[in-house]
Amino acid sequence: MPSKLIQEEMSTANTVSKTKVTTHVLQEMKLKGEKIAMLTAYDFSFAKILDDSGIDIILVGDSASNVMAGFDSTLPITLNDMIYHASSVVRAAKRPLVVVDLPFGTYQGNSKEALSSAIRIMKESGANAVKMEGGSEIIESVKRIISAGIPVMGHLGLTPQSIHKFGTYVVRATNEEEADQLRRDADLLEEAGCFGIILEKIPADLAGEVTEEVKIPVIGIGAGGQVDGQVLVLHDMLGITQDFSPRFLRRYHNLKEEIMGSVQAYITDVKSKDFPNEREQY
Ligand code: KIV
Repeated sequence: MPSKLIQEEMSTANTVSKTKVTTHVLQEMKLKGEKIAMLTAYDFSFAKILDDSGIDIILVGDSASNVMAGFDSTLPITLNDMIYHASSVVRAAKRPLVVVDLPFGTYQGNSKEALSSAIRIMKESGANAVKMEGGSEIIESVKRIISAGIPVMGHLGLTPQSIHKFGTYVVRATNEEEADQLRRDADLLEEAGCFGIILEKIPADLAGEVTEEVKIPVIGIGAGGQVDGQVLVLHDMLGITQDFSPRFLRRYHNLKEEIMGSVQAYITDVKSKDFPNEREQY
């Protein structure tokens, strides 16, 4: 049996670089053409698995409202909820950059309110950055948050916090007018000092164009392969959630089926008095 020190060294050698991912590291990755891998997480245990797997960015998304709390949109989740999820993730995430969504209603009012929401997230969760949905309409808030030293990631295209304005989750920016607005918004976010932009559910060629145009990393979800990196909702790509199957979602696992298999085996063992056996008791 190797000593504890050797075991630690062996486990470090088996994993990817332990250098903390910062916004500067992401910028260098873009320059080198190295793709950025981002996934959501909302709790300590999954964040630990993502960290151990070598993920570059963990997004504490307001998709927690759907995935964790069971709401049918991202609107109901609160700032306190997001801080709870984010601080659980931060306790596990040593290497990845941790980005946290500012939830609906905490930044759209005015830039002062936006700054105090962002400060609460950074102070109370220990996260590294915040993400905000929108372009020109929130640019004053974006600037004010960045001027306080808080890194901001933008989010354009399909912006789920505006679902009641659009009424559907269909592909965005498919006509020239919307595409032009998106290009302008991406430029504005870059000029304001955002360190990156998420593009959700827009045509691949438009996403490629924006990625070439701006110097900051662009991460896509349903935005094709010409971007600098990809993000998916963890529970969707693992097959824990099954009622959401957009074209862009690649399922890497059918975890719901596997978990159900284990739970059903446990139920059978309990009911048949097979569990616990002699070796499983004191
Ligand atoms: O909340 C979230 O999970 C997101 C991703 C879908 C980008 O914003």
